[in-house]
Amino acid sequence: MKQQYDQILVIPKPFVKWAGGKRQLISLLNENLPETFGTYYEPFLGGGALLFHILTKKNGQKCSISDLNSDLVLAYTTIRDRIDELISSLKIHEKNYQKDSKFYYYYVRGTNPRSEIEKTSRLLFLNRTCFNGLYRVNSKGKFNVPLGKYTNPNIVNEENLHSVSNILQSSRVSIKCRDFEAVLRDAKKGDLVYFDPPYQPVSETANFTSYTNKNFTFDDLSRLSELCMKLDLKGCRVLLSNSDSKEVLDMFEKKPWKVSKIQANRSINSNSKKRTGHFELLIKNY
Ligand SMILES: C[S@@+](CC[C@H](N)C(=O)[O-])C[C@H]1O[C@@H](n2cnc3c(N)ncnc32)[C@H](O)[C@@H]1O
Repeated sequence: MKQQYDQILVIPKPFVKWAGGKRQLISLLNENLPETFGTYYEPFLGGGALLFHILTKKNGQKCSISDLNSDLVLAYTTIRDRIDELISSLKIHEKNYQKDSKFYYYYVRGTNPRSEIEKTSRLLFLNRTCFNGLYRVNSKGKFNVPLGKYTNPNIVNEENLHSVSNILQSSRVSIKCRDFEAVLRDAKKGDLVYFDPPYQPVSETANFTSYTNKNFTFDDLSRLSELCMKLDLKGCRVLLSNSDSKEVLDMFEKKPWKVSKIQANRSINSNSKKRTGHFELLIKNY
């Protein structure tokens, strides 16, 4: 009984740590949301920090979320539809990890499970135990992060997973694996689209773009800026996060775009000294 009670009280949060995750910027993003909007679109979903914030504020909000990373999208649908099986599978990982963490981590990293449950529990297990909680793949799409240095990682995190599952079940959320540009077909006047793409590198060491085996290129950024213009013409509200770079500033210099520089922390950087404040851009058309 106590456990059920706790599950109801936990506010759903991102269930993966994700490079570029927006948890630390939530109050600033919240201040920049329009008062009202139709469907909420988030086409570069990642850990979905803003999605969970919006769903917590307004349960029942219609949402359409998507990402190009198929393992990540599968994790969302598995948590929504098969939470108990998933938690049982994670508990097995937890038990084995406690016996010999190094051996077991690299064993799981080398596997390629077929079932939806095992694929998702592998992703969550690796995300909890890998170095820096980072998801990164090589050019062949293979997860390539080494073991992290945790004494007691929270591998199962049952309360949050139940809470995420509940909110995804009780709200009107459509979840798809697709390229961001597909949002143009669906979004209508009055809808809100929040874009948080992989950022353009601002320095040679800041080029983390490997969420999938395809890098996010300058052409993708150009596609995105054209898409923002088209969505604006359709009457959609557009909110965009990006790095503080000249390329991005040039693309959004004209009306109706309002650009603000905001201070942000990078929570995922292999060098902890570089996890300090930096500036990024928040751009909107309303
Ligand atoms: C900066 S992360 C989003 C972080 C998210 N806002 C959060 O709070 O965790 C960018 C996401 O875009 C996805 N992505 C990369 N290229 C894409 C594309 N062409 N279409 C859709 N999603 C893409 C990546 O898989 C990654 O999850």
